[in-house]
Amino acid sequence: MKSSMILGVGHYVPDHVVTNHDLSQLMDTSHDWIVERTGIEERRHVVLGGGDTTASMGYRASLLALKNAGVSAEELDFIIFATLSPDYYFPGPGVQLQEMLAPDHTIGALDIRNQCSGFVYAISVADQFIRTGMYRRILVVGSELHSAGLDMTTRGRNVSVIFGDGAGAVVVGIAEEEGKEEGKEAGGTGLGMSKVLSTHLHSEGRHARELAVISPSTQHWVSHILKENNPNDESYYPYMNGNFVFKHAITRFAEVINEALRANGVSSGDLKLMIPHQANLRISQYIQQKMGLRDEQVYNNIMRYGNTTAASIPIALSEAVAEGRLQRGDLLMLAAFGSGFTWASALIRW
Ligand code: UT7
Repeated sequence: MKSSMILGVGHYVPDHVVTNHDLSQLMDTSHDWIVERTGIEERRHVVLGGGDTTASMGYRASLLALKNAGVSAEELDFIIFATLSPDYYFPGPGVQLQEMLAPDHTIGALDIRNQCSGFVYAISVADQFIRTGMYRRILVVGSELHSAGLDMTTRGRNVSVIFGDGAGAVVVGIAEEEGKEEGKEAGGTGLGMSKVLSTHLHSEGRHARELAVISPSTQHWVSHILKENNPNDESYYPYMNGNFVFKHAITRFAEVINEALRANGVSSGDLKLMIPHQANLRISQYIQQKMGLRDEQVYNNIMRYGNTTAASIPIALSEAVAEGRLQRGDLLMLAAFGSGFTWASALIRW
């Protein structure tokens, strides 16, 4: 059986910084409340009309990941794009990315709809394609543009202060034989050797409406919305039962991290780094404490970017790599929980 490895990582966030003080001009909130409850100090929002979209941010992150991997767009075999905020209701942004990267290189493009767990689900799918030998180089992207769809009034404050925009990408390649460094051979930065050891995916659809955007949808189609023309209809905005999500998150994060550790016969002390989905700093800190991890074993950047859903893990991974937080052979844990509910983990030998 073949195995897969991460050849290169990249990320892109919009320039426009939105501070907690900026939000307090729009709604009844405060810097202190947001920092105390979430750890977030600022986030990035696209400037509407400025050219950034979910697909284009994914493209910019992908260019960096490809460059770092030393892989050209024409060498890719497949694209996997995870997002909950696509440019269009359909088609998904995978095909937009395919066109932006290399319009005549008509590889397949798959869209993943697993929200905060989307990137880890996408890594798992890429890993399976590579293990079976179907593909050799897969671009995996997580990108979100939340800001345009948030209720920026006091009514939506429990959700709107959390989410931010941005994108991250990785190139996943085949580890054909022990010791071969495909990234270096191709003239890249040679992350080589890294290996996806296992991935673990879960869902519990009974809680689907606890964190969801209900409209527009086949249950509330555009013609009905126009006919009703109801300015008080909140179903177009994300709804989140915050406490309920929080309680499930801390349980499921711990479960799925332990599942990955057990599957590989290692303990939390063996982890060099854990990158949790950046949902809330309090969730990350709770997990850290529960798993007995030291500060340097957990990577958090939610303070600067907020919760970027499917993009949060690849953005954090890209920053962690740039900061030299991972060396060859280190054990890396990725873990996520979110809307669906879905949750997932991946253990990677760097
Ligand atoms: O990424 C996917 C998964 N998402 C998550 O994991 C998020 C999980 N949930 C959370 O992170 C937290 O539940 C929140 C950060 C969303 C909310 O924090 P909380 O400590 O659970 O606050 P709460 O919803 O219980 O609200 C406490 C109070 C309420 O006021 P009253 O009823 O006590 O008077 C809210 O109305 O805080 C109020 N509140 C706010 N106040 C100022 C809610 N949002 C805000 C706000 N600014 N932005």
